[in-house]
This record gives sequence, structure tokens and C-alpha cells, in this order.
Amino acid sequence: MASKSRLYPRGSSRKSSSSTFIFYVLIICSFFVLILLAFAILSIPKTSKVHEVNSIVHRESIIVDSSNERGDQWVEVISWEPRAVVYHNFLSQDECNHLINLAKPHMEKSTVVDNETGKSKDSRVRTSSGTFLGRGIDETVQAIEKRIADFTFLPVENGEGLQILHYEVGQKYEPHYDYFLDQFNAKNGGQRMATVLMYLSDVEEGGETVFPSAKGNISAVSWWNELSECGKDGLSVKPRMGDALLFWSMKPDASLDPSSLHGGCPVIKGNKWSSTKWIHVDEYKV
Ligand SMILES: *[C@@H]1O[C@H](CO)[C@@H](O)[C@H](O)[C@H]1NC(C)=O
Ligand SMILES: *[C@@H]1O[C@H](CO)[C@@H](O)[C@H](O)[C@H]1NC(C)=O
Repeated sequence: MASKSRLYPRGSSRKSSSSTFIFYVLIICSFFVLILLAFAILSIPKTSKVHEVNSIVHRESIIVDSSNERGDQWVEVISWEPRAVVYHNFLSQDECNHLINLAKPHMEKSTVVDNETGKSKDSRVRTSSGTFLGRGIDETVQAIEKRIADFTFLPVENGEGLQILHYEVGQKYEPHYDYFLDQFNAKNGGQRMATVLMYLSDVEEGGETVFPSAKGNISAVSWWNELSECGKDGLSVKPRMGDALLFWSMKPDASLDPSSLHGGCPVIKGNKWSSTKWIHVDEYKV
């Protein structure tokens, strides 16, 4: 190899000076590695804070995007168990109304998945009405689905069509998991990995999304005093038009996360419109 013989020419004096050089480089490198190791050891926290009561952190950051009318957008991490964040003003008011108008003519009584047969069934645990919008049915839906992919780092193809739900006074969804307990439903796209729940309307009272098994200080959320009785039974997110809640049904090691148990509290006053995007581990065929 010509280039090699140019770099390391034969000749004992050149050879020994280059090996001395390599020796020094190695010494300097190991010195830096040692310094880095020392820093790493010093920076390992003494105790893990994740399981502690005060682990619900509020971190706010402004997403700079002046090209639309979505108001101030910021991200709020509300829990690590389950992993849940709120993207404030994720949708514009126009987008919310657009989704509602697309769905309105097709609303049907909601069903739940039978955990033994995998089929849909009527249930008293879920009393809302709803419909599915086909994936990418129009430009607005495409833009929203693209945004969801950007914010979840999961591809558009892994998502089911948007489900639009309507809850009237007294309607609710009892706590449940979004992952499947049957083999039947996981056939298309594999297990559900994450859920993005978008609030398309404000709700005067009630209608919170509640995580009864969340670990952490559930009263640390800034909307604690506005929550209904049901909402105070766990970590809750108060519906606000345009906000999106992202939570994960799987832990980072891809095992199912039982702390993702969640429900929709009964609406006490007003009307609740929401939209759900379920995202699978693999491509979901439509
Ligand atoms: C199915 O759900 C019922 C409650 O709705 C529960 O009692 C039962 O254990 C579940 N079966 C399986 C296989 O998870
Ligand atoms: C939970 O959070 C609230 C509000 O930040 C705070 O007042 C309270 O002391 C916290 N409770 C615990 C047990 O850390």
C-alpha cells in the first residue's frame, strides 16, 4: 500500500521517532480519559430522584415558531412515571374546530376493546361518542400528524387515524391502559407505545385526564386547585383547547408501563372534545 509506506517510511531513526510520538499521544489520551472519568464519577447523583414524591418537574421552554397563530407554545414535563409531557398550544383554535367539524357528522357511541376476544364492545366504562378520521385525509390532518411525529420522534406511519371524542356532562372513560392485553389487536403495528391526547375544547369543570397510578407529587401541577374530585385522585391534566398530552405506555426498555393507567373524568360542566393519536411500535397499516 503506497500511502502506508509514505506515512511510515522504512529507516530506523524515523521509525523510532514515530513510535515515541505515538507513545506520547497515548499518554496524553489516557490522561484526558482519566479526567473525563473523574468528572463522570463526580456527577453521578447520589440518590435517584425519580421515585421521590417531589419528582414532578416543571420545565418550560419556548418553541420559537412565529409562522402560525397557535399562541405561546411551551413544554411542561408533568411526570416521569408514567412519562408524560404537555405541549401547550400544540393546535391552533382553527385546527381544533376543523377536527370537530370533520368528525361531527360521523359520531357514534364509543366502544372498548374486549381483552379476551380483541373485538370492540359497548361498555359502561366508556360513555363518550366518537369517530376515527382516516390518516392524512386532508391537509390540516396531515399537518397535525406531521407535528405529532416531530414531537414524539415516532413516524407518521406508526400512528392510527385520529380518533375524535365527545363527552357530554356525566360522560367519562374509566381508568384503563392504552396497550393491549390481547394478542389480536397487536397484530397490526405491534403494541401501542405512546398516546397523544389533544384537547379540542376547554371544559368548564371536570373532564380531566387522570393517571391514578402516577408516582410523584400529584398536587404539584399548577392547575391543582381547579381540579374536580375525580381529578384529584391522581396526577391530572386539565383540558385546555389546543393543548396536547403525550404519554408513553412503554418504559424506555420497551416493557409495558402500568403507571400509564389513565381515565377521563366525568364532565361536570360544559362539553369536552378531544382527539387521540395512538402510536404503535411498528408501522400501522390503514
Ligand atoms: C379482562 O378484563 C376484566 C375486567 O374488565 C378482568 O377481570 C380480566 O382479568 C381481564 N382478562 C385478561 C385476560 O386480562
Ligand atoms: C407537592 O407540591 C406542592 C406544590 O408545589 C407543595 O406545596 C407540597 O409541599 C408538595 N408536597 C410534597 C410532599 O412534596
